[in-house]
Amino acid sequence: MTILLATRSSADDQALWLGLLQAALPNERFVTTGDVATRDTSTDHLVDIAVVANPPAAALQNLPNLRFIQSLWAGVESLLSDTTLPTEIPLARMVDPAMNTAMAETALWAVLSLHRQYFECAAQQLQRRWQSVPQPRADEVNVAVLGRGQMGCAVAARLVQNGYRVSAWSLHAATQEGVQSHHGAAALQHVLQSADIVVNVLPLTVATRGLLNAQTLAWMRAGSSLVNLARGAHVVDADLLNALNSQHIRRAVLDVFHTEPLPSDHPFWTHPQVTVLPHVAAQTDPRSAVQVVARNVSALRSGNSLSNLVNRQAGY
Ligand code: GLV
Repeated sequence: MTILLATRSSADDQALWLGLLQAALPNERFVTTGDVATRDTSTDHLVDIAVVANPPAAALQNLPNLRFIQSLWAGVESLLSDTTLPTEIPLARMVDPAMNTAMAETALWAVLSLHRQYFECAAQQLQRRWQSVPQPRADEVNVAVLGRGQMGCAVAARLVQNGYRVSAWSLHAATQEGVQSHHGAAALQHVLQSADIVVNVLPLTVATRGLLNAQTLAWMRAGSSLVNLARGAHVVDADLLNALNSQHIRRAVLDVFHTEPLPSDHPFWTHPQVTVLPHVAAQTDPRSAVQVVARNVSALRSGNSLSNLVNRQAGY
């Protein structure tokens, strides 16, 4: 049987993935697709596994023997929004400790930079301005982490390790050592009101789309900051811009956007209180991700249970 690698990435990237996948799964045969319209479909009936990275819509249509889909992305909302995606076939998302570590590092960098006013110092440097900034201790800074999946837990643990006062919120109950846990829609207001810095690592689902809007941003403390490392669609951009312009929100560090790349005329690019990152908080690392793929492919071939399966109803 055959594994289809379906991505939107460049030919060079595809070649890199193919090389690593082939090395990790030497007995498997791989085919690729970039462009659904022009691809060779003569081997479609042989494909029984698809490995996908944000694939073009309809990339998995007409694969009559498909038995398993492995995403190379942690977030699968765009895959699930493709109405041609076969509904009965098990779908696994990427869960890779290397990505959790990367996310924890990015969150720590953003929190440290906000806490120690790095962004203000960088702006001062441009004006050759020498002005001291306040120096609270980490244990005086309240950080709220939204999202308690693998990444949320890694982020919260890293922040606790670095001395911050950490609370975490998710729709469903969970606990974690050293972290004040809250769950359910009714608890969100309290969590946002108590935080100096809010870090969003929620999955994007029907329940979380637009969660950071005029009302919830107003719940955030005056002078607090938002770090969005999850998905652009968690945030209502116009509401965030209003909250920044009124100085209610001090700063936003944004890695993700409604449209990516962020359009060149978007106000976030030049807003003095916004830091734009090009969706780099936790990129899939091909070296470790192929091992995750290989484990699931081997499990499928030997009839063992698959890991990290997506609950399509929940959306992650
Ligand atoms: C990146 O954003 C991912 O979902 O893997």
